[in-house]
Amino acid sequence: MLAVLSGAALAVVGAVVVCVLMFLKYQLLLKVNPGSLKRFQVKGKKNWVLITGASDGIGKAVTDKFAKSGFNVMMLSRTESKLATLKEELLKKYPRIEIEYLPMDVAAEKERHAKTWAFVDQVLGSDGELRALVNNVGMNMIIPATIDEHEDDEIDAVIDVNVGYTTRMCRTYVARTTKSGRYLLINMGSALGLHPCPYLAVYSASKAYINALSTAISRDRRNLTVKSFTPFYVASPMTLTTRTDIMFISPKKMADLVVAALRDNRIVCNPYWYHALYGAMMSLLPKNKLLDITVKQIRGQQKKILRKMNRTPESKARLAPRWRKD
Ligand SMILES: NC(=O)c1ccc[n+]([C@@H]2O[C@H](COP(=O)([O-])OP(=O)(O)OC[C@H]3O[C@@H](n4cnc5c(N)ncnc54)[C@H](OP(=O)(O)O)[C@@H]3O)[C@@H](O)[C@H]2O)c1
Repeated sequence: MLAVLSGAALAVVGAVVVCVLMFLKYQLLLKVNPGSLKRFQVKGKKNWVLITGASDGIGKAVTDKFAKSGFNVMMLSRTESKLATLKEELLKKYPRIEIEYLPMDVAAEKERHAKTWAFVDQVLGSDGELRALVNNVGMNMIIPATIDEHEDDEIDAVIDVNVGYTTRMCRTYVARTTKSGRYLLINMGSALGLHPCPYLAVYSASKAYINALSTAISRDRRNLTVKSFTPFYVASPMTLTTRTDIMFISPKKMADLVVAALRDNRIVCNPYWYHALYGAMMSLLPKNKLLDITVKQIRGQQKKILRKMNRTPESKARLAPRWRKD
């Protein structure tokens, strides 16, 4: 018994030490590494990045980082007005770059791949290079629930966007790389891909797939850097909050960490020290105990979301299933 307890204490201390070291490393990277995106640009060429889900949350903040580093930016997401406003904002801040956008609902558009790459080709023209792709768009279950409580359409949409669309985006991007310069492929995973979450089973499974896919394709090209980021909570429309604290970080902080993490060798990477510590502590708990604790927490969240949904007709509309065409 004593040996088990001292083993557990040692594991906790080890995890804390590793996370403190990670915190210090990232403090340094955040200071000395703001130019790391430039490594993926080719001198004398028009360097472009394509960011999906660019109009809000993490995608919007990451878009700002690429624009700041001198990339020309292609943005894709659902709402045209948000894309137009963001384009205006970015051009005011970074007048030297070019920005183009494609409004498209990738959960509803059957020709989404053809349309995405036709847009890319049209923007690139004869002298542009797509040097980076950020597969950020992702859908979560609207309300956490047991698998049988989710509608088939919702399950299909989450798998279709998180797995189907992302996979095909990766495939086409890798196929288009050449031997010169460096390319960057960022996939937005989630900590739930590492720690499967009851009541969010399909989302968790889709993000586990993203981690596996990113890891496996990281050797497909020698000059391709592949990353899958696995944060826990970022304050964004997806998490229905703008409030930040030690657990819910801002999209801007997440974007800063994403850029800093380009100097981190890990492919599947959680660059925020507190999320890493939280994940390490979760891994130390017996799996069944962890699942029981999570169910209790998630039932609380389920009630909160239902309350928010029913507060006003606007909130109801905002949270209504979006994959339905009716
Ligand atoms: N937030 C978190 O706590 C968290 C944690 C771990 C991982 N992640 C992952 O990080 C990524 C970004 O998350 P986020 O929280 O920033 O999401 P978000 O706040 O919901 O923003 C999503 C972005 O994607 C666009 N989008 C959503 N569904 C779309 C669709 N069907 N077709 C086209 N565009 C669509 C949205 O466009 P509109 O603005 O037009 O709606 C928006 O620009 C996701 O892959 C998510 O799974 C998030």
